[in-house]
Amino acid sequence: MNTGDEARAHHAGSGRILPLSQFVANQIAAGEVVERPASIVKELVENSLDAGASNIRIEVEEGGTRRILVRDDGIGIHPDDLRLAVARHATSKIAAAGDLAGVETLGFRGEALASAASVARVTITSRRTGLESGWRLELDGGAERGHRPAAHPPGTTVEVVELFYNTPVRRKFLKTQRTELLHVQEAVRRTALVNPGTAFELTTGPRPLESLPAGTMAERIESVFGEHFLAESIAIDETGGGMRLRGRIGLPTHSDSRASRQYFYVNGRSVRDRLAGHAVRQAYRDVLFHGRHPVFVLFFELDAEGVDVNVHPTKSEVRFRNSRDVHDFVFGKLAKVLRDQRPGTAPGPATTPEAAAGPAPFAADPRDDPAQRKFAFRHHHPRRLDEPSLARLFSEQNELRDAPAAMDAPRSADVPPLGYAVAQLHGVYILAENDQGLVIVDMHAAHERITYERLKAEALDGQVHTQRLLVPVAVDVSTAEADLVEAGGAELEGLGVVLERTGPSSIAVREVPALLVDADIEELVRDLLADVVEFGTTDIIRERQERLLAGAACHASVRANRRLSIPEMNALLRDMESTENAGQCNHGRPTFVVQPMADLDRLFLRGQ
Ligand SMILES: Nc1ncnc2c1ncn2[C@@H]1O[C@H](COP(=O)(O)OP(=O)(O)OP(=O)(O)O)[C@@H](O)[C@H]1O
Ligand SMILES: [Mg+2]
Repeated sequence: MNTGDEARAHHAGSGRILPLSQFVANQIAAGEVVERPASIVKELVENSLDAGASNIRIEVEEGGTRRILVRDDGIGIHPDDLRLAVARHATSKIAAAGDLAGVETLGFRGEALASAASVARVTITSRRTGLESGWRLELDGGAERGHRPAAHPPGTTVEVVELFYNTPVRRKFLKTQRTELLHVQEAVRRTALVNPGTAFELTTGPRPLESLPAGTMAERIESVFGEHFLAESIAIDETGGGMRLRGRIGLPTHSDSRASRQYFYVNGRSVRDRLAGHAVRQAYRDVLFHGRHPVFVLFFELDAEGVDVNVHPTKSEVRFRNSRDVHDFVFGKLAKVLRDQRPGTAPGPATTPEAAAGPAPFAADPRDDPAQRKFAFRHHHPRRLDEPSLARLFSEQNELRDAPAAMDAPRSADVPPLGYAVAQLHGVYILAENDQGLVIVDMHAAHERITYERLKAEALDGQVHTQRLLVPVAVDVSTAEADLVEAGGAELEGLGVVLERTGPSSIAVREVPALLVDADIEELVRDLLADVVEFGTTDIIRERQERLLAGAACHASVRANRRLSIPEMNALLRDMESTENAGQCNHGRPTFVVQPMADLDRLFLRGQ
């Protein structure tokens, strides 16, 4: 302890106000930025990216608690700036308050290195490009231990040893090395996903954990998520209203039981954003089985002026100037892409020249993209005509002489995407032949989706039918919510609920949509108001109505073991082709699969 601290210790408890020592102030501030080894890794990697690095190497020992080292080949730090780099509130990234409005670097607070230095032993070695040699600065808990020239290739290496050695309380909060290592790995992946042009390598001891070579965005997504993901997801690239949303979203049939693979970026910065999370959930709501979580990597871009990134010390939250627009944009674009997943449509990324020529292009041709291929029925390879027709084979076996369509169907682009029915299997599956090969349809699941979409179109499109409650339901709410009701803003219009303020923090519900009279009205209205207060919009009414209709659709749909005639089956196939979301049943299970001829040939070792 230095003498200043001794003097302060002497004063402590005397009830008088004293400024904190630099050391204590730094430790308090560090607590906000550095929660665990992964926080340090995130900050150091972001510094490397801001320095324009093409290669970033990360080494950790004991989950990063013992040692973290990050080396880059970026622009480096000028020897005269080395001490400033670890000084609090010193940065090369912004100069004036006005710069905060349009921050384009990942860092801007000028405190990450200072924070790390005050809770660990830190060594920074750096050589500025163009200079002959490097310099090294060594610190212990923020106090300087050495400052001298040192050999180093152009770029920077930061080593952080014995994290929290001087803050035992923090140290106790660390989890097992294994858990900390997982957090480190996640931090690296999160940053790497949005920086595909930079190569990343993460090792622990001699063991390589991640090795991500520089490449395109699609390649980076593949190396982080595995190659299956490309086939199980849809590429998206949508623009509008000065905003752009790119990335990949998992097919509803490819979901997680935990919300673990959800990556959302705003202008290249990974953030946890409730607004975006809500918009994505809402887009998936109708196609995802209850309790499942969508998988997504979404890069959202908007004018830097439209977003405030200076909201949280770890920079993991943002505030949008126009949050309602952002919500509507994200929800609208995702809902559209998901809705388009019906058989016969080849959903695709925008193939604008801009998208194709951008620094990180997604597969522009649907055939290059496994996920698209599944749906791109029209891009089939021509088949040899002398191959025995699958349809004939089946119909001869089953003596289904009334199968006109399949047999006489011209082999041309006229064949509808789901083809023509040839048989029913065990009363559960419809087998059909299309240009590609064999189509297998889960009859019940398909019918359920069609019935549901029909019920929805009848019940929900156009006007909402409301019903007046015999006895109004009283609900206690927050004053903000009661204010909202009293103001009667546009957000509450058209929902089919009639609300009235009855006190400072109480309201009465007088009318609700007819479909929902039997629902728990108090809960419904509470959820509805909470949504409107937080997101400026609500989808609860629609969601609850749809849930009811989904139940009805399930009951009204053909059960397994019902024999269908060929015309009935064909009618079902045609209905599927014209129904939104027909690729999944209401629970997010697939309604059909296609077995291309090539796959069938492989089964029989043909042409090998
Ligand atoms: N790897 C690096 N390569 C080049 N310069 C670096 C590197 N790391 C840090 N610096 C320099 O040191 C300064 C301080 O870094 P620090 O991370 O503490 O603050 P910042 O990045 O400016 O803001 P923030 O606290 O938001 O991260 C940076 O502004 C930058 O000039
Ligand atoms: Mg930084």
